[in-house]
Amino acid sequence: MNKLKLLSNPSHHQADVWLVEENGLRMVYKDFRKKGFIGRFIVNREASFYRRLRGIKGVPEYYGSPSSGSLLIEYIEGESIKKYKNLSSVFFEKLSRLMDEIHSRGVLYFDLRHMSNLLVLPSAVAGGEEPFLLDYGTSLYSPLLVKALKFVDDGAELYIKQRVSPELLSAPETMRVKKMNRLSGIWFFNKLAGGD
Ligand SMILES: Nc1ncnc2c1ncn2[C@@H]1O[C@H](COP(=O)(O)OP(=O)(O)O)[C@@H](O)[C@H]1O
Ligand SMILES: [Mg+2]
Repeated sequence: MNKLKLLSNPSHHQADVWLVEENGLRMVYKDFRKKGFIGRFIVNREASFYRRLRGIKGVPEYYGSPSSGSLLIEYIEGESIKKYKNLSSVFFEKLSRLMDEIHSRGVLYFDLRHMSNLLVLPSAVAGGEEPFLLDYGTSLYSPLLVKALKFVDDGAELYIKQRVSPELLSAPETMRVKKMNRLSGIWFFNKLAGGD
């Protein structure tokens, strides 16, 4: 496995995320072993989410874990949604379907307000852009709680829509985002729903 490029920001105390290449296939290698037991636990837990969400369009494919505390996934040649403005309603319909599919497998994502976790795969065709969701370190598997707590993910989806394509929000949606943003000013809610 050849390491091509470091994708994570080394100044954050996070996992090392590398673009790697093996037998002509480019992949992403995430390794948190330097953080010892806790780091291994976090990445192994994340790997379990990639396994659970296998086959969903918009979730990078999981290739396996070369060792405990590391994982290999599909490389998405896209950029963070932070870099985008005025994406079409078609894109947000895709994002909404992606979140629904994740929820239907009993998973709450919980980290959507961090826009670096949502990549956009570009397209030459308008509306052809595809959303890809990364980083399942703070997700929760709990089919029983999905109904009660999916409002956190739904609210984050609206927050992103407001940041990227505010013209697409209906009046009630704008009110909801404003309410959520006010709540996230409160410390506890900020921990749960704070954004970039
Ligand atoms: N599958 C991937 N394809 C392309 N880029 C990726 C992929 N996984 C991670 N990255 C890049 O690496 C960064 C850090 O990865 P992430 O899984 O979010 O780790 P962290 O826990 O450090 O936030 C992402 O914000 C993204 O820019
Ligand atoms: Mg991240």
